[in-house]
This record gives sequence, structure tokens and C-alpha cells, in this order.
Amino acid sequence: MQLTVNGVPIDATGSAPSQTLLRFLRTRAGLPGTKEGCASGDCGACTVLLAGPGEAPRAVNSCITLLGSVAGETVVTVEGLAGSEGPGRHPVQAAMVDCHGSQCGFCTPGFVMSLAGLYAADGRGDDAIREAIAGNLCRCTGYRPILEAGRRMYDYPPAPVVPECGALAAGLNHSGALPAGYHRPRDEAALQRLLREYPKAWLVAGGTDAVLELTQRYAAPDPVLDLSAVAELCTIDDGTDALRLGAAVPYSRLEQLFATLSPPLVAMLERLGSRQIRNRGTLGGNLANGSPIADMPPVLLAWDATVELAGADGGRRSIPVAAFHRGYRDTVLAPGEYVAAVTIPRAALARPHRIFKLSKRFEDDISTVLLAVSMEREGERLGAARVAYGGMAATPLRAAAVEEILTGATLDDATIERACAAATAVFTPIDDVRASAAYRRAMAAALLRRALRELREGVDLDIDAVEALHA
Ligand SMILES: Cc1cc2nc3c(=O)[nH]c(=O)nc-3n(C[C@H](O)[C@H](O)[C@H](O)COP(=O)(O)OP(=O)(O)OC[C@H]3O[C@@H](n4cnc5c(N)ncnc54)[C@H](O)[C@@H]3O)c2cc1C
Ligand code: FES
Ligand code: FES
Repeated sequence: MQLTVNGVPIDATGSAPSQTLLRFLRTRAGLPGTKEGCASGDCGACTVLLAGPGEAPRAVNSCITLLGSVAGETVVTVEGLAGSEGPGRHPVQAAMVDCHGSQCGFCTPGFVMSLAGLYAADGRGDDAIREAIAGNLCRCTGYRPILEAGRRMYDYPPAPVVPECGALAAGLNHSGALPAGYHRPRDEAALQRLLREYPKAWLVAGGTDAVLELTQRYAAPDPVLDLSAVAELCTIDDGTDALRLGAAVPYSRLEQLFATLSPPLVAMLERLGSRQIRNRGTLGGNLANGSPIADMPPVLLAWDATVELAGADGGRRSIPVAAFHRGYRDTVLAPGEYVAAVTIPRAALARPHRIFKLSKRFEDDISTVLLAVSMEREGERLGAARVAYGGMAATPLRAAAVEEILTGATLDDATIERACAAATAVFTPIDDVRASAAYRRAMAAALLRRALRELREGVDLDIDAVEALHA
């Protein structure tokens, strides 16, 4: 197996299937500039840039990226950045130095690489800078000088981040031997063949959940079946009647796809993990992990989406998302079965909707409560309403009692308050580290009140005051 690191092809054959990219870089490749902070995708110290053949570089957390998943790709670490004249400081590094963006320096390579990803995409403006570094934590400098570096990095003589990125990767041995026990099929036929051969294989897509089993619980799965290159699973079918999303499509592609289709979804996705997580994490993984606080299932419930499941024997079945979760972290996936795609009817996408996520930290945090509301209008009255929550029960769930109150009603204040009271009453959430049950119930009503008022008035309520708290 080969990959390019900072322009140098490296043979990584002989690595373990559970080897992370971070471990490989710091040991076999002898590049200790990339740091390990949390080993769970939370701190960003391990950020590197990754690019497949012909792709623009994107920031990823190398601590939760499996080495086998980057076969044939180009990796850029902090050691690989250079100035406009070759060796020397890259504009991002120069700006970090000149703006005093580093103190102890432990987080600095990660911030530099996140900003380098933004620089490569010519991303400008405070919102873009904040978004790029939302997955990086600094415990001593503070963020103001780092934000300033993000603003000033374009003031220096321009330098490419990875000029030869795509070309180099294209010349590599892309499908050569992977680490023993690591399988990365290119199509569903090969995937199904491998599932028959290794019925107990460990499935991984973006790895943003699964690889934590390795780094936090020291699992050493073998064999590993990587879904991230299965062509059919990476395909988006933008059909007339429905949108079919392959299960291994990462969030960063969904953000682009939904830019015009659903601004509320895009606003929520900006808070799903970090840029690094969204560059790897997938819809299929978000469903298959069965989490009651996964962000996408409530949205898919409100949109009447269906999940397409496929098995090792080639059999396929489609079920409503509502029938997918069976209990806490339990789904209807049978052994040897995988999530192939999710289909969202166009008609559902066209309905007025709102999606609100509440979490302890504004960026890069798992939901405490997530609400997705979608409704049909029949003149002054509401048609069928869908109200779905995450974080309120053992599974993502539609609130039937709330929907009953809303369906066919006029959306006046009294109806809104009755619906909110029902939202508080119907759930028995748990107390946990994220919130008490009482807080969750109160927020279920508060989010619903805001969503219904916004839908009634056809406007987004002003949340500048909320955002100012996070500035
Ligand atoms: C720092 C951090 C922040 C996060 N923030 C959020 C957040 O804000 N909101 C949120 O919802 N999640 C969040 N997550 C969780 C995770 O990123 C998402 O759930 C993501 O969608 C998982 O997708 P993946 O492709 O990375 O899944 P993987 O990690 O590859 O897999 C997850 C599980 O699903 C299985 N699996 C994956 N794909 C398939 C498939 N197609 N068929 C069958 N099984 C499959 C795997 O075997 C594994 O059990 C966060 C994670 C981290 C580390
Ligand atoms: S080491 Fe913290 S995100 Fe990777
Ligand atoms: S400079 Fe010390 S943690 Fe950021």
C-alpha cells in the first residue's frame, strides 16, 4: 500500500488493519509535528490535510482515520507546508507567528492545518475562519489571535498548500496491497463478496464513531471492511421525485447538496461535529450507530425518508426510517446487512420545515436535544405535521401526540401552547452528563415553540442575541 506524505511516496505495506494515520505519521513516517491530544476527534491537534486523486485537500482528524482508508491518497502534515519560495514559513504559519497565535504550541500544528485547509479553498471572512477552526481546541493562547491569523494569512506572498496534490496521488498505486486484514472494496458486488467471506468483519465508513473503539477502548478489529470507497454508496442520485443519498456520502458533500434545498439542514450540519468530522463522517454511520442523539435521524423522520438495506447475498429491502431503530443503540440491521442509501421524497423536502439543535457547546458537540419539524399547509390550516426529536428517548422518535394536535389545526398561539405542553408531557428522557430530564423536557417545548412561530410567520426569529454569547 502506498500513500504520499508531504510529496514523498511512502510504502505502508505491513501495517496493522487497525493502525491509525496519526500513529503511522508519528512513528513509521517519522513526522512528530502532528500531535495527539484526545485521540477521539475532539481537540483537532492531529489535523492533517488529505486529498484523493484530483480532489481538493480537506482537513481530517488523523487520530480517528484508519491508515488503510487513505491508500493512494496525499497527506499533508505541518512539516509539509512551505513558503512561496519553497522552504520557509507558509503564509498561515507566518500569520500565526506575527499574530502571536501560539503559546505552549501543542495545539498549533492542528490550527495551522485547519487554516491551511481554509487557505487552500480560498475561504475568507470571520464566519469561514470560525467554521474552519471550530474543531480545534486551544487551552492557553485564546482564540482571538488565531482568528486574527486567519484574517491576515492572505496578506503574505501566496503559496500553495499542496500544489501537486491531485497529480501526485493519481500516480500512486491506489489499489495495491492494503494492510493485511484491511479490505476496501470499490463496488457493492465486491463488498457483498467480502461480507460472505468475512461475515464477522468490522464495518467502517468515515470512522468518526467506529475508530473510537480502537483509540478509547483499545479494540483491534480484524478484518476491517471499509465502505468509504464503494462507488454505489458514494453516489447521490438527484432524481425528479426523490433524492437518493448513498450511505457513504460524507457530510461535507451533503452541505453542498442541501445549500439551496434546505438552509435549516445546512445550518444544523455546520454544528454537526467539526469541519474535520464532516469531511469524513457519513449518513450511513449516523444511522447504523443507532444513537438516540445522532443528528440526522430526526430530520429524516420529519422528511418521511426511507432506508435501503442490502445484504451479503445481494438481497435488498427498503424500510421507513421510523422502522429502523429498535431500541437504545439497536437497529433492524441483520448480520451481514448494511445501509446502502437513504431516499428523501422531493415533496417532503419542499414542505416548510425547521431543524434546531441544542448542545452544551455551540460548535462540535453532540446534541442534548434536536428537533425537526415539517408541515403541510392547507390554506389557513395545517395539513399533516411531522415533529421528530433526538435526545428525548432511547431512539430518535416522532411525537405522535404533538402531531395530532397540529394536524388540521390553525397555527394560533393557543394551538402552539397546547403542542408545547404535549411535547413536555409525552417524553420521559433520562438525566445524563448533557442535561437533566427536566431540562430536556423544557427544551423540547422551547424549541417547538420557536419552530412553530417561525413557520407561522414565515421568518427566522432573530438569534443574534444567542450568537453574541458565543462570539
Ligand atoms: C468529535 C466528534 C463530534 C461528533 N459530533 C457529532 C454530532 O454533532 N452529531 C452527530 O450526530 N454525530 C456526531 N459525531 C458522531 C459521528 O461523527 C457521526 O455519527 C457520523 O455520522 C458517523 O459516521 P461514520 O461514517 O464516521 O461512521 P463510522 O464511525 O464509520 O461507523 C459508525 C458505526 O456504523 C457502522 N456503519 C457505518 N456505515 C455503515 C453502513 N453503511 N452500513 C452498516 N453499518 C455502517 C459501523 O460499523 C459503526 O458501527 C461526532 C463524532 C466525533 C468524534
Ligand atoms: S488527537 Fe484530538 S482530535 Fe485527534
Ligand atoms: S498554544 Fe497551548 S494549547 Fe494552544
